[in-house]
This record gives sequence, C-alpha cells and structure tokens, in this order.
Amino acid sequence: MAAEIIAITQQKGGVGKSTIAMHLGAAFHEKNKRVLVVDADGQNTLIHWSSAASDDEHGIPFPVVNLSEAGSQIHREIKKFINDYDIIVVDCPPSITEKVSGVVLLAASVAVIPISSSPADYWSSVGLVKLVQQAQVMNEDLRAVFLLNKTEEKRMLTRELKSVLEELGFPLLKTQIPTRECYKQAMALGQTVLQMSDRGSRLAAAEIRACADEILGMFS
Ligand SMILES: Nc1ncnc2c1ncn2[C@@H]1O[C@H](COP(=O)(O)OP(=O)(O)O)[C@@H](O)[C@H]1O
Ligand SMILES: [Mg+2]
Repeated sequence: MAAEIIAITQQKGGVGKSTIAMHLGAAFHEKNKRVLVVDADGQNTLIHWSSAASDDEHGIPFPVVNLSEAGSQIHREIKKFINDYDIIVVDCPPSITEKVSGVVLLAASVAVIPISSSPADYWSSVGLVKLVQQAQVMNEDLRAVFLLNKTEEKRMLTRELKSVLEELGFPLLKTQIPTRECYKQAMALGQTVLQMSDRGSRLAAAEIRACADEILGMFS
C-alpha cells in the first residue's frame, strides 16, 4: 500500500513543526511502521538534528531526507518514496507564500497544524486554514487537525482557544503537548524523547505516543 503522507505545517516559525515532525516519526517507527521523515524546510532543522548524535546506536532510528531544495516539485520527489514506506512525515517550511506547503498538501492525507496558545499563532492559522481548504478542492481526502503545543499546565486559555479553533473549521487533537525542557535536550543529543529515560522525557514520550495514536486512528 502507498504511504500515508502527513504534513506538519504552520505559517509561523517556532511553533514546534520540526519537533512534532521528528517525534511523530519516532512514535510511528516504534509501532513498527516503515517511517520516512522529510525535511522540506531550508532551515534544515531535521537534517542537523538527525546528524547530531554521537553514534548510530543512539541516533534517530529511521531515515530523514532533505528535500528542501525541491521547491514546487517536492510532491514528485516525495512520491518516489511512496511505495517503500507506510508513513511519510513532512516538516514543511513556515512561509505559505512559498509553494512548498501548498504542493505537499496536495499529496497529503493529513495536515497537522501545531499551534501554541498565543494569539499570534491563531492569526497565522487563519491563512493556513485557507491554504488547506484550497488544497482540499483538489485533494478531497485531505483532513486537517490542530495540535496544541507548548502548553503551560496552569493556563486556562485552552478551553477558549479550543472553541476559537473549532470555528476555524478543523478539530483540535485531544492530546496536548506541554512545554518540556527535554525536547531541546533531545534535539541537541540527536535523539527523541522516546529514547531518553528521565521523568520529563517519559511523560513527554507518553504524550507523543498518544498523539501518534490519535493520528493513526484517523486512517482506520
Ligand atoms: N513542547 C515543547 N516544549 C519545549 N520546547 C519546545 C516544545 N516544542 C518545541 N520546542 C522548542 O521550541 C523551539 C522551536 O521548535 P521547532 O520545532 O524548531 O519549531 P518550528 O519548526 O515550528 O520552527 C525549539 O528550540 C524546540 O526545541
Ligand atoms: Mg522547523
């Protein structure tokens, strides 16, 4: 069967696209899915991340490829891998003025839109929702979900944000990803939190797995 393509996309930088892309890849890999993670962003966060480990044994245990040079032809490059994997996760570049996110969405079955509780993220999501809706005209199978990242436990903004997001037209995943220091450590070590054993990482890993399960549930 052809791979399901999951696009991690948002207009803004710093919302956690790369973090979410790599960690979802790790959670799918752990479930014995054949996973490819595609770095489509010229900042090449994932390429640097995947080459940061001290040795192969402790590094990222699935392939990460750099397609950031492919520009508006990126969907063609991704499709070359489609028969060799179960899931292809694509870390899209932040700007929607570039064609890249738009063409990835034409090939994707799910768009995951990371968002924090900041109003700036909400505003940048409005443009992205339009981009997803445009892609859905051509790609009827495309579904989109918001993923709340970098949540703070004591904030009560979440419920309000949830209803605001639902008005934008796409559901919010039940699982939220709290702010945890271990994500930065994971990146520096060339690993994911699924490979780390401190308490924060174990909590983070459980959240990531729950998030991956919700997304896998969208395919069944
Ligand atoms: N849930 C989180 N908790 C703590 N730090 C996070 C979390 N998500 C992302 N970060 C950090 O925020 C920064 C930006 O994340 P990144 O994934 O590179 O965003 P983007 O790809 O959208 O620009 C990175 O330093 C990353 O480690
Ligand atoms: Mg990034």
